[in-house]
Amino acid sequence: MIEPDVMLDFLKERRSIRNFLDKMISDKDIEMILEAGRWTPSASNKQPWQFIVIKNKEFLAKIAKTAIYGRFIKKAPLVIAIVGKIKQNPKWYIQDTSLVSMNMMLMAWSLGIGTCWIGSMNREKAKNELGLGKDDFLLTVLPMGYIKGDIPKPTLRKDLEKISKIID
Ligand SMILES: Cc1cc2nc3c(=O)[nH]c(=O)nc-3n(C[C@H](O)[C@H](O)[C@H](O)COP(=O)(O)O)c2cc1C
Repeated sequence: MIEPDVMLDFLKERRSIRNFLDKMISDKDIEMILEAGRWTPSASNKQPWQFIVIKNKEFLAKIAKTAIYGRFIKKAPLVIAIVGKIKQNPKWYIQDTSLVSMNMMLMAWSLGIGTCWIGSMNREKAKNELGLGKDDFLLTVLPMGYIKGDIPKPTLRKDLEKISKIID
């Protein structure tokens, strides 16, 4: 178990990173990030997912071109495409793979590796590049890399009183 205060600080400190060092992530770190994905909870434990690790620079550049607000992923040493296998759990593959992305981002952060969720992209184009089919759901392509420059300032969050209520 992790100390609760340490855990909360860790969650608060994570930032989206869009600037990466030109340095490949070690195999050990990649494995840990994939393991964090593998140990994500999923509905009925169906694990309806596949993780595609893209290191090849030319291929990565092709994927970067499919991003709209995310061309910066070209500069990441590595991208992990998180794919939902629709038929393996048609009802929950979106939730399951979304949780995978969070697990991976947090694991990466603990390793000093920055990531940024890419939502703004041409998914069909990216799917084509990745050779995915109609039964595959491309959740996101997560760029990853050791952080270049300063960690961005904390982003704002809505006040807790505004977004929560307690029913006693
Ligand atoms: C579903 C989702 C889609 C996002 N899409 C993009 C995107 O296309 N490009 C980008 O640069 N950041 C994207 N982000 C990152 C958010 O802008 C970022 O998480 C938010 O501003 C809060 O900043 P923080 O992650 O540093 O706390 C996305 C985040 C989420 C959760």
